[in-house]
Amino acid sequence: RLVFVLNGPNLNLLGKRQPQIYGHETLADVEAACRATAGELGLTIRFHQSNTEGQIIDWIHEAREVAGGIAINPAAYTHTSVAILDALNAFDGPVIEVHISNVHKREGFRHHSYVSLRADGVIAGLGTQGYGLALRRIASLIDAKA
Ligand code: DQA
Repeated sequence: RLVFVLNGPNLNLLGKRQPQIYGHETLADVEAACRATAGELGLTIRFHQSNTEGQIIDWIHEAREVAGGIAINPAAYTHTSVAILDALNAFDGPVIEVHISNVHKREGFRHHSYVSLRADGVIAGLGTQGYGLALRRIASLIDAKA
């Protein structure tokens, strides 16, 4: 019941960057909330952020070996990265895509997601609560398979 929570570029600036869009909570706050929810659900999490596409791909490969599910906010790579899509396609367990903002209410280039071609579900616009909800869904999907 290990789940990876992966965060893409610029999310290290969460709380400081465009707070009118992304809110005032920091990524450390999101991690703490994820750990609390994971505890409730009997999940263990590994929580990572990187500004580098290759690092995110390497974590997805690592997840193949050890994790039962992935919650991922690929940030801007959502809209550009065939390589992250390919890595996720090589992962067998549940994948939930999370966006803090409602990408569909924003610029047209945010309306398309490569990752959605693989994701079992997509959460957008629920703020940082989306992470906890993604973990709940992953726990249900892991239970349904067990
Ligand atoms: C985001 C939305 C993306 O379009 C954007 O590039 C981000 C964050 C979100 O969480 O709302 O960096 O994934």
